[in-house]
Amino acid sequence: MKKAKKIIVGNWKMNPVTSEEAVKIVSTITREIISSKNVEAVICPSFLHLPLVARYNKKKKIILGAQNIFQDQKGSFTGEVSIDMVKDAGVKYVIVGHSERRKLGETDEIVNKKVHLVLAAELIPIICIGEEKRDDEGHYLGFIKNQIQQALRRVGPSQLTSIIFAYEPIFAIGAAEAMKSNDVHGMTIFIKRTIMELYKIKAVTIPILYGGAVDPTNAHSILTIGDADGLLIGRQSLDAKSFLDILTSARDIK
Ligand code: PGA
Repeated sequence: MKKAKKIIVGNWKMNPVTSEEAVKIVSTITREIISSKNVEAVICPSFLHLPLVARYNKKKKIILGAQNIFQDQKGSFTGEVSIDMVKDAGVKYVIVGHSERRKLGETDEIVNKKVHLVLAAELIPIICIGEEKRDDEGHYLGFIKNQIQQALRRVGPSQLTSIIFAYEPIFAIGAAEAMKSNDVHGMTIFIKRTIMELYKIKAVTIPILYGGAVDPTNAHSILTIGDADGLLIGRQSLDAKSFLDILTSARDIK
């Protein structure tokens, strides 16, 4: 069987402050990146920097993503950005339901609406899920299962090939240390099993990314021991060298 590409996604969040810095990061990455059949490099800049990053994305060496979209396709929504706008800007992926957005009030229902908008636009949602904390009784597993079910409401089995999940335990986001690779492995298995049960299917090809304190020292282990299909990277994606090092770790996996 052909091995799927590792998907390495940089989520720039509300950074960097200036256009100049954004251009510098993307220029360094596109200049030094070594293309590989094994890896897809994705950057999700702020909406403001998206066209700029697209312009400096030499030879289209990186793929673009959006960090969010509004939950309605069109209308009078001051300050919002629509799915059609990000599609027009050239993105392939849209991050949906990041925990930082959920914290601002994004419900499972809104996440599901956004998933449908992204799929209808023929783009790929990267659906973020993850528990805030763990408990000995394993209630967090039920929480994650529910997040998956809600996000996939009214999503047909044929649409599963256009979806990515990013498992991000909230306690690891912005933290000093990532989750242990063995635990990541347990979660990639759990998420895949949940989707298989939900759709009564025997195998799932949905990529499961891991996010939360990924850096060049732990990326390889999370992708191999953790069996993650890719990574969602915050802080270290703003440092061109770190991001390139993480891409190299992914590329070198046999
Ligand atoms: P971090 O963020 O890599 O800075 O921990 C991850 C994320 O929020 O996606």
